[in-house]
Amino acid sequence: MTNLAARVSPTRWGGHALFAAEAGRDLRTTGAIAPSSPRLARALTASIARSTDAALSILEVGAGTGALSREIAARIGPDDTLTCIERNPRLAEYLRGAIGVDPALRARAGRIVIHQADIVDLPATDRYDAIVVGVPFANFTENETRAICDALDGVLEPGGRITYFSYLGGAAVDRFAGDRHRRHRLGSARALAEFRARFRQDRVTVWTNLPPAYAWTLTKPVAAQPDPRVDGENPCAEPITA
Ligand SMILES: C[S@@+](CC[C@H](N)C(=O)[O-])C[C@H]1O[C@@H](n2cnc3c(N)ncnc32)[C@H](O)[C@@H]1O
Repeated sequence: MTNLAARVSPTRWGGHALFAAEAGRDLRTTGAIAPSSPRLARALTASIARSTDAALSILEVGAGTGALSREIAARIGPDDTLTCIERNPRLAEYLRGAIGVDPALRARAGRIVIHQADIVDLPATDRYDAIVVGVPFANFTENETRAICDALDGVLEPGGRITYFSYLGGAAVDRFAGDRHRRHRLGSARALAEFRARFRQDRVTVWTNLPPAYAWTLTKPVAAQPDPRVDGENPCAEPITA
């Protein structure tokens, strides 16, 4: 491939240069001019925790140059798996190269898979315990956001967590980006608010990111156990006497 991805070294600074070049090429889907900061990466991955001995299956969406992938790799155990989805072919190619070079990724190399794909094409039969999302929702239409959210909800196990970020200062960006961006941002925000309502939600603010961001953590409810009385038998009920 005769592009920057083929020429930059798969180091973090090489990744920053490639990310900025891809933002210049398509800011709408790339979403930022720099990868997420280490502080934001920690806020988005802090909830990846093992509650049993079972291996965890983790999905990362919009992996870019791996700012979040590295943090996830540092947290997972030897039996856990990390599946990264990245739509941009140049970023996906860069990330594949980084697995052999970056110490955190190399340590879990055999447990990391990178797919160059759009998240909405994820097989609906996949199942994940945790999902870390890096896509720039605010740049997407309401329908695009709903399609991504439904795809994510469909593959998340009950009790599992989704983390994602939204940038602060959207209204200020509208002033430069115009009405179309404003419509997308508001439509996407509406879809995300409805999506969050299905989960238990938590939010922290990360100021040390470009731009500053909210890190959201959504926990999927575990399905309610069936009520034994529904079948007509309640073991705790008093016997009915005539
Ligand atoms: C804001 S960047 C985040 C990159 C990286 N996770 C980080 O935090 O630095 C958004 C990334 O999502 C990718 N992306 C956007 N839409 C996507 C989609 N529908 N499916 C998969 N990846 C997508 C972009 O190509 C880009 O790499």
